[in-house]
Amino acid sequence: MNSFSAPESYVPDIVGAQMLSLPSEFLSRPSLAIATFVVVLLACLLSLSTKTRKRNGYFKNESGDQLREYGKDTFAMRFTHGQVLSDEGRKLAGEDPYLVRNGPFRELVIFSPAHLQEFLRKDAKGHWKPKNMNAGDWAGRILGQCVGQQNGPKWKTMRSHFDPEFSHLASMGMLPGFSNEIERWVDGLSTNPIGESKMPGGFVQDTVQAGKYLAFRLISMSVYGDAFTEARFARLLELSKVHTQVLITGIIKQKTTSWWYNQLPTQEKRLMSSFQSQWRAFNEQVVKDSREHGISCPAERIYHGVDSGDMSRIEFLQTVDEMLFANIDITGSIIAFIVVNLASNQSFQERLRVEIEKQKQSKSYNYESYITKQDTLLHYLTLESLRVTPAMYFSAPECTSQPKRIDGYLIPPNMPTIIDVRRLNTHPSVWGEGQDAQAFRPERFQTMPPSAYKNALLRFGIGASKCMGKNMADLMIKLSALRVLERYVLVKGDSKDSGLGGYTVSKNGEVEFLPLGDKGGK
Ligand code: HEM
Ligand SMILES: *[C@@H]1O[C@H](CO)[C@@H](O)[C@H](O)[C@H]1NC(C)=O
Ligand SMILES: *[C@@H]1O[C@H](CO)[C@@H](O)[C@H](O)[C@H]1NC(C)=O
Repeated sequence: MNSFSAPESYVPDIVGAQMLSLPSEFLSRPSLAIATFVVVLLACLLSLSTKTRKRNGYFKNESGDQLREYGKDTFAMRFTHGQVLSDEGRKLAGEDPYLVRNGPFRELVIFSPAHLQEFLRKDAKGHWKPKNMNAGDWAGRILGQCVGQQNGPKWKTMRSHFDPEFSHLASMGMLPGFSNEIERWVDGLSTNPIGESKMPGGFVQDTVQAGKYLAFRLISMSVYGDAFTEARFARLLELSKVHTQVLITGIIKQKTTSWWYNQLPTQEKRLMSSFQSQWRAFNEQVVKDSREHGISCPAERIYHGVDSGDMSRIEFLQTVDEMLFANIDITGSIIAFIVVNLASNQSFQERLRVEIEKQKQSKSYNYESYITKQDTLLHYLTLESLRVTPAMYFSAPECTSQPKRIDGYLIPPNMPTIIDVRRLNTHPSVWGEGQDAQAFRPERFQTMPPSAYKNALLRFGIGASKCMGKNMADLMIKLSALRVLERYVLVKGDSKDSGLGGYTVSKNGEVEFLPLGDKGGK
């Protein structure tokens, strides 16, 4: 058994994190008559809007050419076979944007910096998240009320309670704890390897499992602060397994996207309810204990927002779920890809090790300031790794508010739009023609000011960047890379495939770790 086999989930953040439902208070007690009426009304509106859209020349360019539409339903495929969808979209529409179906919805796929520029022009502040994140009723029930699904004043109010706990300053305060934890994790890498190496002391490890385990520990610590205990972590592991089952159900069993289907007392409904009540009990207990014993706990402080009526208990619970369970995959994969990418290029790895040695020779060296610098190879490593191996293929749908003309095509207002992330992050208009755009070459950032890749690099969100964990995640991933490089030379296992194309169902995160001897250490 691998010691890092903990959170099993392979469903990316976006599935869980980015979905919204009709208000469940409304949905939970509609009479059949009202529901039928609503459906009929929607059908009428829909046919009306299709007519107007055609009349207005929507989805056409000035010579009357129509946007291409991909034939298959991309509901599950965008997560499970994202690279296939990306390739087929390119074959279908070349450099033009195109339409995809997502269950009953139609979405626009964009992927060039020029598309992004038009997408964000003038109305970026008016963009909004579609109901259920266009992923149906099941997703809405799990995470439909988390902060990532909110718009407008509600979003602002909720963020005002969460943000202070995850600011840059707060994240810096977490560093000593993170650092201990990461060192223990690096130690643990050698204890339960998945394979052997010819080098003495060397071993092979599955970086994806290991990365997810670390992400889960670190994010749990950040959410519960001093209330984080081993007993609670064990409980969170159990809960995460149930959560994963619940999330996966929503993807592989497309029937669950239907509100009607979910009225049935199914096995999977029981599992969801069971998760929800256990999750609520767990968090309420942590808040109660922290208050009784004066324990410093971010979740407890955030809970004041529930006490004051600024957010509901469900909104709180789903946001903590979003941060914790839904983000294990994202953060864990990112940590894994950094290790895999380093292993794929010895020459860069060596240059970075030299930088680390040099930093340490400086009298004023401390790891805190090194990992916050923006002009180091360590920093470029994280930019480049997120560029070529993003954690998700497609962003969650976001709706425009104004009509747009993207690449000549007239796009109606309120159009749900998704971004082909890797295609954007390697687009030739910014990243160069030819192979170099795809290559992992962190040094490219030495000569590129951020303005040179505006709208061309999607990491924590584009435009008004919205990832709540970005300060913390940035520190986590840099410190993990630093600590691993201090101890090991990383060599890519047999698989030629460096992990590209496999980042949602990552089976190829195997890396050989060769100890560096006494050179490393703190
Ligand atoms: C390297 C790791 C991570 C990456 C690449 C990442 C990326 C993203 C992206 C692209 C979004 C969507 C932003 C948008 O709507 O425009 C997002 C949202 C979010 N992320 Fe992260 N994330 C990471 C780690 C984390 C962590 C560790 C947390 C835990 C606190 C977190 C919490 C959130 C939340 C709560 C949202 C929704 C925010 C909102 O819409 O208000 N993320 N993230
Ligand atoms: C409309 O799109 C077609 C197909 O991409 C292209 O050949 C044509 O030049 C476009 N017309 C205009 C006016 O952009
Ligand atoms: C590895 O990194 C070096 C820079 O350190 C770069 O010049 C080289 O092209 C990279 N090799 C590959 C195979 O990407």
